[in-house]
Amino acid sequence: MTNPEKNHLWRPYTQMKTAAAPLEAVRTDGARIVLADGRELVDGIASWWTAAHGYNHPHIRAAVAAQLAAMPHVMFGGLTHAPAERLAARLAALLPGDLDHVFFSDSGSVAVEVALKMALQLWLNRGVSGRTRFLAFRGGYHGDTLGAMSVCDPEEGMHRRFGAALPTQVFCDLPTSAERVAALEACLAHHENTLAAVIVEPLVQGAGGMRMHPPEVLAEVARLAQSYGLPLIADEIFTGFGRTGTLFACEQAGIVPDILCLSKALTGGTMALAATVATGAVFETFLSDDPAAALMHGPTFMANPLACAAANASLDLFESEPRLAQARAIGARLAAGLAPLRGRPGIADVRVLGAIGAVQWSTVPDLAEVKRRFLERGVWVRPFGDIVYLTPALTIAEPDLDRLVDAVVTVVGDVTRP
Ligand SMILES: Cc1ncc(COP(=O)(O)O)c(C=O)c1O
Repeated sequence: MTNPEKNHLWRPYTQMKTAAAPLEAVRTDGARIVLADGRELVDGIASWWTAAHGYNHPHIRAAVAAQLAAMPHVMFGGLTHAPAERLAARLAALLPGDLDHVFFSDSGSVAVEVALKMALQLWLNRGVSGRTRFLAFRGGYHGDTLGAMSVCDPEEGMHRRFGAALPTQVFCDLPTSAERVAALEACLAHHENTLAAVIVEPLVQGAGGMRMHPPEVLAEVARLAQSYGLPLIADEIFTGFGRTGTLFACEQAGIVPDILCLSKALTGGTMALAATVATGAVFETFLSDDPAAALMHGPTFMANPLACAAANASLDLFESEPRLAQARAIGARLAAGLAPLRGRPGIADVRVLGAIGAVQWSTVPDLAEVKRRFLERGVWVRPFGDIVYLTPALTIAEPDLDRLVDAVVTVVGDVTRP
């Protein structure tokens, strides 16, 4: 059978001339992906870090089915609905501090765009002009739309070719040493009057290479942003909902950002939904008798009721099932299982945080070959750059997790050259 998509689909991050044909998935269940040819793969990455409860969780499916029967979608301008009201209230209760004001959108990149726009308009609403730039961190990734691209790592990031077309931002290293703290402070002092906000991925820079930093570093970022009067945007799109071992990564540093972005696992990996959440102080700068002071944003499908129903059901599961303990147990198993790779020639680093395990090569092998070998072993693991990583569903069964870890240890061991 010819594959019709070969002619019509333009695939993500894919060189369409040379890429191998994608595998066709027909079914998912728990931590498994079933392919059209009958093969069953253990998923090591939970569909780009979304499927926190595994695939097809019956509670989420039932919630979405009930919502589908009642009201799949309704515009959010001038109308509201219970699934969104309930979800916003629950997020506000779960998030640290007074992150109480929830703006829904439909993807992580758009949640970041909204956060950047909120920060820009916050200054305009205060009557301050000239604050048009953002301080972001090297190694960071915040999405694929233009504003989000502009705050990704400008040199090593995947969007580096677009530099000339993007707004120019200010980049610093995360303050992981005394010198870097001083450098960040100097940078803030130098650019103080042109900056609108600081944006950071708390505890892990995900797509930039699973680079982890301790909570103290995040606390230092928050302290410095605050001391310069700058709003802090925490991009928890990857880290939110248990991935780092706490519900939100910011909790580990005891910080409350001014604006926080969520997506990915928000709906337990079932539907597209994102949220940009602001503190009371940020929200209040938008309250005015002047209509122009309102946040001028409104995606057509914002607060989609099906997605909100899925997210509410996902939060039920975080309440009723031991997800955070499961994340920490996965972390312990990843740390023990991946340890044999540590210190091997050709391996630069092995690191684990929460339910994230990453192995970094110093000598990168042929990644197409690495992917082929993972498939042979019946696992879905997607190395990128100099990294191979595991971010499985938090509900993954121990034998499946062991199979993923064994595959990584064996395949990486076999393909790595000193
Ligand atoms: C930290 C972070 N921010 C933003 C995004 C963009 O999200 P989306 O792909 O839903 O646009 C991602 C996606 O990987 C991410 O990891």
